[in-house]
Amino acid sequence: MTYENLLVEREGFIVKITFNRPKTLNALNSSTLRELESCLTRLRREEKDQTRVVILTGAGGKAFVAGADISEMSSFGVDDAREFAELGHRVLDLIAEAPFPVIAAINGFALGGGCEIMLACDLAYASDRAKLGQPEVNLGVIPGFGGTQRLIRRVGLARAREIVYGCDMIDAEKARDIGLILEVFPHDELESKVTGIAQHLASKAPLAISQAKRVTEKGYDESLWAAHELERQAFGLLFGTEDQTAGMKSFLEKTKAEFKGR
Ligand code: HXC
Repeated sequence: MTYENLLVEREGFIVKITFNRPKTLNALNSSTLRELESCLTRLRREEKDQTRVVILTGAGGKAFVAGADISEMSSFGVDDAREFAELGHRVLDLIAEAPFPVIAAINGFALGGGCEIMLACDLAYASDRAKLGQPEVNLGVIPGFGGTQRLIRRVGLARAREIVYGCDMIDAEKARDIGLILEVFPHDELESKVTGIAQHLASKAPLAISQAKRVTEKGYDESLWAAHELERQAFGLLFGTEDQTAGMKSFLEKTKAEFKGR
């Protein structure tokens, strides 16, 4: 897979996607979003069996993604803006609904659309140089890639409003303390720490992780009854997999299971 604005590298079951427009601090233009859409679609279709974890990060050492591309957006009319928001929603939904975990490695600025991408990921870890935030109100707009809704679910209504209204940058430690990200690592260690986490997840039963992701993602906005039903269905389904047989057999025989994703 070769792209103009993304670097895509595979190592075994782990795929690293790097936003690669360092001159603009990896700002997201429509073409980058379309490339990400095509890349994620390929991973979940043609490369489904080989893909267990995806890592997202930014090129250039200064930014994860400094937001949607303000040069491109500045000439938008109402319909263009709506279409751009729809494109972003579609791509971030692909992250949130992917059958594998997506990890954000926040190695610098994660602002606006960059923070929204992070919110759509399953897990987020940051370097101690990271700065996060939703500065859209400074530009006379609001988050438009699902950020308003994902943010209130992540940090609560009042904290989300504080972040969106005030546009302040949040450093990595505060981001961890309010639950925006999970852990902070020294800048130079972020990549190896996140790779280690990805390797750990890639050794687990992929269909079980996929169902755990689906049930927690879909169940979150359902009634408790409907969400419990999703869980019961997924639990039952997994008993039709080779991985369940292998996992339980290995436990009983005191060996380590090699999961096949079948
Ligand atoms: C386009 C951007 C950009 C962006 C940075 N650049 N962010 N270009 N869109 N979002 C460009 C700058 O114009 C500059 O280009 C180069 O990257 C380096 O940035 P500097 O500003 O010179 O760097 P620095 O002084 O270190 O400041 C870093 C920064 C600042 C604090 C991150 O760049 C900044 O505030 N960026 C905008 C952040 C933002 O508002 N994001 C939200 C966008 S709205 P030149 O050519 O001058 O070197 C959004 C909406 C999402 O995301 C939803 C849409 C539907």
